[in-house]
Amino acid sequence: MPIPKVEVSRITKNVLMLRLCDDETKYFEGLWYIPEGVTYNAYIATLPEGAIVFDGWKHTYGELFIETLKQHVDLKDIKYVVVHHTEPDHSGSLKNLLSIVDAIVVGHPMVKDLLNSFYGLNTKFKAVSDNENITFSGYTLKFIHVPWLHWPDTIVSYLQEEKMLFSCDVFGSYGIPSKVFFDDMDEKEKNLFKWYSKKYFANIIGKYIDWVQKNLAKLQNQNLDIRIVATGHGPLYRDLKPILELYKFWSSKQFVKNKTTIVYTSMYRFVEKAVKIVEEEIKNIEAKYRIYGFTDTHRDAESDIIGDVLDSENIVLATSTYDADIFHLMKHIANLINAKIPENKKILILASYGWGSVAGKKLKELLSKFKVVDIIEFKGNQIDREQVKLALKRLFSN
Ligand code: FEO
Repeated sequence: MPIPKVEVSRITKNVLMLRLCDDETKYFEGLWYIPEGVTYNAYIATLPEGAIVFDGWKHTYGELFIETLKQHVDLKDIKYVVVHHTEPDHSGSLKNLLSIVDAIVVGHPMVKDLLNSFYGLNTKFKAVSDNENITFSGYTLKFIHVPWLHWPDTIVSYLQEEKMLFSCDVFGSYGIPSKVFFDDMDEKEKNLFKWYSKKYFANIIGKYIDWVQKNLAKLQNQNLDIRIVATGHGPLYRDLKPILELYKFWSSKQFVKNKTTIVYTSMYRFVEKAVKIVEEEIKNIEAKYRIYGFTDTHRDAESDIIGDVLDSENIVLATSTYDADIFHLMKHIANLINAKIPENKKILILASYGWGSVAGKKLKELLSKFKVVDIIEFKGNQIDREQVKLALKRLFSN
C-alpha cells in the first residue's frame, strides 16, 4: 500500500504539528466520497518536564505515527496523551502508542470506556470536567466540553501560554492543503477549502447544528485570547474570523437566496429528460443551481450533494418509481437529507411511473419535515413543460 505523505511543521516555540496527508481513504467514515483526501493533524508539545501528545492518526497508520513521533521526541518523555474525541480517525494510532508508552490519557469521562471497547486499552486515565485546568511543567491547559461536535465525548483544549486552541473536528475540513495556515493560501485554494469545510461540516457535524450554536456561544463567552486554532483536519487558522463566520452562517439555518440543488435518479433516462426541462426553465430564473445524478453510467457523490444542500434554499428531487416505491438510491439520498439537513428547505418532487404513481407521495411523506411545494407525477417520459414552469414558479415564489 502506498505510504501517504507526512508533514511535520513547527507551529509555536513548543508545539509541532504531525500531519498525515491521507490520499488513500476514498470514503471517509466508509460513506463520504472524498477524492480530495483528508489530513489527520496530531500535535506534540515539548515542555521542560516532558511532552504532551494531542490526538493521533487513523488506525491504518499507527506504526507510521510512532516512527514520526520518534523522530521528534523520546517516547519515554511523553507524559500525557490528550484525546479530544475518540473517533478512530484520531484515536486509531493511539492504540500503537499507548501499548508502548506509559502516559496518562486525558479526555472526556467517556473516553476511557470508548478506548477500551475500541482497542482493549486500559490505560492510566484522567477524566477532565468542563472548564478544568491542568498545569504541567509551568504550562496550563484548559479543557472545554463541546458535546455533539459531533460526538458526546468531544472536547477542545486551550494551551494558555501558546494561545493555541486544539479543536480536533471543530473547524475541520476535508482536503490536503498546500499550506499549514489558511491565511497563507491564495484565493483559489481558500475558496476550495471553504467548500471542503462546508462539505465536511454538512457530512459530519450538520446533524447537530443546534449544538454548534450553543458551543460557539460557549467558546466565545470564555474570552480566550486565541492566536492559533489547531484543527484535527485541514488547514490551521491564525485568524478565526473566516471559519467562525462560516460556522455561524451554516449553523443558523441561513441559505443562499434561490440556490437550488437538483438530485435525480434515472433508470432509463426518462427522469433525466424531465430534469433537462427543469434545467432549461430554471435558467430563466436568477438562481444558482447544481445538478447531481444517478444513472446507468454515472453516480455523483452523497458527500457533495449534502454539502451543497446545506446552504440551498430549494431542493428538486426527481425519481423513478421502483417496486411500487421510491427508487432505492433516491430513498437513500432523501434519508441522508432528512438526517443531516435542517428543515428550512423548500422541495419540488418529480416522479416518473409506469402503471402506478406512488413514488412522489412516498417521497413527500419521507421528507415531511420540509415544505414540499409541489409534486409532479408523470407517466413514462411524458413530462409536461407547462407543469414544470408552474411548479418552479411556486418553488421560487414561496
Ligand atoms: Fe475526525 Fe469525528 O473524527
